[in-house]
Amino acid sequence: MVNKITVVGAGNVGATTAQRIAEKELARHVIMVDVAEGIPQGKGLDQWESAPIEGFDSRVSGANDYGPTAGSDIVVITAGIARKPGMSRDDLLNTNAGIVKSVSEQVKATSPNAIIIVVSNPLDVMCHVAKSVTGFPRQRVIGMAGVLDTARFRSFIAEALDVSVRDIQAMVLGGHGDTMVPLISYTTVSGIPITQLMDKATLDAIVQRARDGGAEIVKYLKTGSAYYAPSSGAVQMVEAIVMDQKRILPCAAWLEGEYGMSGLYLGVPCKLGRNGLEKIIEVTLTADEKAALAKSAEAVRDPMKAVKL
Ligand code: LAC
Repeated sequence: MVNKITVVGAGNVGATTAQRIAEKELARHVIMVDVAEGIPQGKGLDQWESAPIEGFDSRVSGANDYGPTAGSDIVVITAGIARKPGMSRDDLLNTNAGIVKSVSEQVKATSPNAIIIVVSNPLDVMCHVAKSVTGFPRQRVIGMAGVLDTARFRSFIAEALDVSVRDIQAMVLGGHGDTMVPLISYTTVSGIPITQLMDKATLDAIVQRARDGGAEIVKYLKTGSAYYAPSSGAVQMVEAIVMDQKRILPCAAWLEGEYGMSGLYLGVPCKLGRNGLEKIIEVTLTADEKAALAKSAEAVRDPMKAVKL
C-alpha cells in the first residue's frame, strides 16, 4: 500500500472510488475532498466505521480543503457535474473545465509528486486541463475511460455468449465518447477470436451498446450518471500503480507521436506501474480501426480548442 490517496469529489463516483480503495487497502490514508460542507466528512466517517466489519485498516476521512491531502501519492479527480438525460459529455465542458482547473492548481500546490488519475468528463479534455495546469509529465496525468468502456463491452459479450466475464479479453481505444473504438481484431474469448463465436450483427449491436453505455445508465438514473463501473475502472488503475503490476490497460494518455498523433489525450493501450504511465503500447490496427481512431481524435481536438485555460 501507499501512504496517501486523495479522491477529489465526494459524489457517487468519488465516494464509491474511496470505498473500493479502502476495501482493497491500497493506501494507509484515503481522503475525500469536496466543496460541499459535511459531505466528504460524513461519507468518510461512515466508510471508516465500516472498517471493523469489512476488515480493512485504511483510514478514510473527508475534508473541504486540501491541507489534509498534502503529499498524496495518488490523486483521483472525479469532481464536476454529471450528465442529465439528453446531455452529451461535451455539454459539461465549460463547467467542468473550471472545476478541474481549480482542483489541479490545488493538487499541484499540495501534492507536487502525485500521480493524477482523471475521471471527470469530458474525459480526454479534462486530462488535458489537468496536465496543462499542473505541468506534470504525462507519466503522472492519466485518464480513466477505456477501462470502463472495455468493461461494458466485455460484460455485454459475456452475457451474449453466456460465458465468464473473466475470459473476455478486449480493448476499447479512442476518446470517451460516441467515437470510441473497440478493437474487434484483438477481442477474444480465452484466445478464440470473437468473430468465430458471434455473428457480425450481434457484435455490431454490442459495439453500439458499449458506445452508448454511459447514456443508457443516465437514461435510467435520470438525475446522475454511472458510478459503480466508473469507480471500478479508476480503482483498477490505482491498484495497477500502487502494486506496480505493469498491467496493460486502455487509458487516456498524452500522445507524443504514438499512433501518428501528438498533442492530445486519447485512449491507447498503456502499461501502468509504480511510475504511473510507464509505456504506451503501439499495436497494429486495421485500416478501419485506424480511420476510426483518427475520427475519434478529431472529436477530442474540437472541444480541446474550446477550453480556455
Ligand atoms: C459514463 C460516464 C460517466 O460513461 O462518462 O458512464
